[in-house]
Amino acid sequence: MQYRSLGAVSARVSALGFGCMRLPTTGENANIDEPLATQMLRHAIDQGVNYVDTAYGYHGGNSERLVGRALRDGYRERVLLATKLPHWNVQTYADMDRILNEQLERLQTDHIDAYLLHSLDRAAWTKLFELGVLGWAEGALRDGRIRYLGFSFHDTWAVFKEIVDASDLWSFCQIQYNYMDVDENPGTRGLEYAAARGLGVVVMEPLLGGKLVNPPAPVQALWDESPTPRSAPDWGLQWVWNHSEVGVVLSGMSTMQHVVENLASASHSGPGTLTAEDLALVERVRATYRDLCPIPCTGCQYCMPCPNGVEIPRNFGLLNQGVMYNTLSNMRERYARMPEDQRASACIGCRECEDKCPQHILISEEMPRVHAVLGEGQSYSCSTGRP
Ligand SMILES: NC(=O)c1ccc[n+]([C@@H]2O[C@H](COP(=O)([O-])OP(=O)(O)OC[C@H]3O[C@@H](n4cnc5c(N)ncnc54)[C@H](OP(=O)(O)O)[C@@H]3O)[C@@H](O)[C@H]2O)c1
Repeated sequence: MQYRSLGAVSARVSALGFGCMRLPTTGENANIDEPLATQMLRHAIDQGVNYVDTAYGYHGGNSERLVGRALRDGYRERVLLATKLPHWNVQTYADMDRILNEQLERLQTDHIDAYLLHSLDRAAWTKLFELGVLGWAEGALRDGRIRYLGFSFHDTWAVFKEIVDASDLWSFCQIQYNYMDVDENPGTRGLEYAAARGLGVVVMEPLLGGKLVNPPAPVQALWDESPTPRSAPDWGLQWVWNHSEVGVVLSGMSTMQHVVENLASASHSGPGTLTAEDLALVERVRATYRDLCPIPCTGCQYCMPCPNGVEIPRNFGLLNQGVMYNTLSNMRERYARMPEDQRASACIGCRECEDKCPQHILISEEMPRVHAVLGEGQSYSCSTGRP
C-alpha cells in the first residue's frame, strides 16, 4: 500500500480508502450482506487500507452499524474512521449533538477521526452556518468526539471557495474528482485551491460512481492504443492518484473482486506514475466521452419551470449519461421510476422553454426522442445521432 499526506491530518493515509456507500447487499439497499461486507472491509484493512468512510444515511443507516461491528476485534484502532452530519436531518442546534452521539453509538466508538458536514451546497451550507454549526463543531473537537473537521461538497467552484474560506477549523474536504469532472464540482481548480490552503483532499466518485468502468466502444478503442495495458477502472484510479494534491481516494467497492483489483491498483500508484503520453490519452478519452453526449444540455435549469411539469434537464441528463457511459438500461430504470408527469413523454410541445435555453436546444423536438429511448427501449445509435 502507498501512503499519502492528508493536509492537517497527522497520520499518513492509505492511497485507497474504503467507501461504505456501495456495500454488497442481499436485495434491498438497506440489507447489507454482512458476512461479505465484513470480510471485504477487514481484507482491505489487512492489506493496508487505513481510511474508512461512511455516513449517517448510507444503506438506510445500516452502513454505520455494519462498520461499527466490522471494526471490532482490533480493527477500529487501525483506521481513521470518517462519517458525516446529514444537513437534511438537522433542524435545530440540538440535532447536531443528538446525531453525532447516535453515530458514536452505531459505530461503537468514542470518537470520529474525520467528521464531515455531508454534501454541502450553497443552501445546505447557509442553513448549517446560520444554525451555528461551526461553534458546535468547535465544541465537539474540543471535547474529543471529533478529531478533524471537514465537509463533502456538490456545488460550483465559487461556493466551494466560499466554504473553504469561511473557517480555519477545516482540516480536509471531500470532492468528486475523476478525469471527467475536471471543470466543475469544484474541479481541478478546487483541488488545487484546497491543497494550497493546507486542506487535505479526500476524493469520492473517482470512477464517476462506476460509470467509467464499462467504456463504450470508441473509448475502449483508445484505451487499447496504450502500450501499457490497464483496465478502465485502473486508468480512472491512476489518473486521480497521479495528482500530488490528492490524499486518499475512496472507492465504493461492492464485490471482493473490486477490493482485490483496487488494492493492486493502489500498490502501484503515485504522482508521476502516468507518462505524458498516458495523460494525453486520457484527454482524448475525455473528449471522446464528451463527443458521445447526444444532447448539449448543461443542466443549467434556465428552461425550468416547464409549464407542464416536465423535468427537462433530468430527462436529458438520463439520456446523456446512458449513451455516454454505456448505462442505458440503468437510466431506463431510473426513467421508469420518475413520476409520469415529469417524464419526457409529458411534453406537449408548447416550446415555451426553447427561447430560454442558452444552448438553443430544440427541446420539444428532442423530448419524443428521449422518450423513445428511455421509455420505449429503442436503441440509440451514436453514428446517426438519433434513436
Ligand atoms: N459525501 C458525499 O456526498 C459522497 C457522495 C458520493 C460518494 N461518497 C463516498 O465516496 C465513496 C466513493 O464514491 P463512489 O462509491 O461513487 O466511487 P466510484 O469508485 O466512483 O464508484 C464505485 C463503483 O465503481 C465500480 N467499481 C469500483 N471498483 C471497480 C473495479 N475494480 N472494477 C469494476 N468496477 C468497479 C462499482 O460499480 P458497481 O457496483 O456498479 O459494479 C462501484 O460500486 C462512496 O462509497 C462514499 O463512501 C460520498
